[in-house]
Amino acid sequence: AIDPQFEANREKVGEENGVAVWGPVDPPEKHGIHGTHVAVDFDICLADGACLEDCPVDVFTWVDTPGHPESDIKAEPTHEDQCIDCMLCVDVCPVDAIDVDPG
Ligand code: SF4
Ligand code: F3S
Repeated sequence: AIDPQFEANREKVGEENGVAVWGPVDPPEKHGIHGTHVAVDFDICLADGACLEDCPVDVFTWVDTPGHPESDIKAEPTHEDQCIDCMLCVDVCPVDAIDVDPG
């Protein structure tokens, strides 16, 4: 599962698609955690798609991660600023790849 303390335990290494990336990153095998308020561990996500289907405000967008061992696409929280903290995505992800921190 995603580490809910990732902000303390990881370093921000940059930005992709407008969201923060928390390392380590070493593509194509390692993409780190993407997003902060809504965070997706790209190295756990296996492209189930429930988060994209169920999010009431369309926070997530598919992005390509060719060659990643779990899946070739990932759910990027491109609109995390729209999140209403309903926690649906956290509940439906089968591999617990998502952390939402209402702060
Ligand atoms: Fe969307 Fe709700 Fe998840 Fe926020 S907590 S990203 S609103 S499903
Ligand atoms: Fe990935 Fe979980 Fe969404 S596997 S696509 S973060 S439901």
